[in-house]
Amino acid sequence: MNFNPRSRTWFRLAALYFAFGVLMGVTMGATGDHSLFAVHAHVNLLGWVSMALFGLIGAMHPSMTEGRIAAAQLWTYNVGVPVMLGALTLRLKGFAAVEPLIAIASVLIGCSVLLFVWLVFSRVGVSAQHPNQVAASPPSIR
Ligand code: HEM
Ligand code: HEM
Repeated sequence: MNFNPRSRTWFRLAALYFAFGVLMGVTMGATGDHSLFAVHAHVNLLGWVSMALFGLIGAMHPSMTEGRIAAAQLWTYNVGVPVMLGALTLRLKGFAAVEPLIAIASVLIGCSVLLFVWLVFSRVGVSAQHPNQVAASPPSIR
């Protein structure tokens, strides 16, 4: 599998979210306080699962990780997710005033997902030389 710095960034972030998500899960189990379970669920799903998938898909299709759109996809996601999770935590603790922040961060995450969709449709299975042509498998040398 090919490797590239942006996939490494996604894997590192995914691992950190995984550790944090599981720590939250263990804490919820130990204390019996499940009030932040929605934060735990999204730390694990938007953080660990989705970021590991971005890293894996980028490692399988390195062109997905190159250029300004890929950079914008990474940054919108990594600003949106922590802001959304932080604001959701405050909301669940009773600070209703943060709701607009949750909305803005969610829209940012949505924009990142749309950029991801664009990258998948424009780069996966499309050769660099001929953007409209489906890439043929390279001949095996083994
Ligand atoms: C040691 C690891 C983990 C522990 C101890 C743990 C514990 C918990 C607890 C106590 C809840 C609250 C259940 C409730 O109040 O209804 C919960 C909910 C949840 N957890 Fe975890 N969790 C762990 C790891 C994970 C991971 C790795 C994921 C996803 C990849 C995950 C996804 C979820 C989801 C989606 C919910 C919400 C389920 C619902 O809708 O009721 N958890 N977890
Ligand atoms: C911008 C992104 C997202 C937003 C704003 C969002 C928002 C929400 C909201 C408002 C709920 C209901 C929470 C409740 O009733 O307590 C929810 C539940 C849930 N979402 Fe998301 N979600 C997002 C992305 C995702 C993604 C990408 C996944 C899976 C990969 C996911 C998985 C779930 C699950 C399993 C539940 C049920 C457990 C829970 O209530 O926390 N969500 N989400």
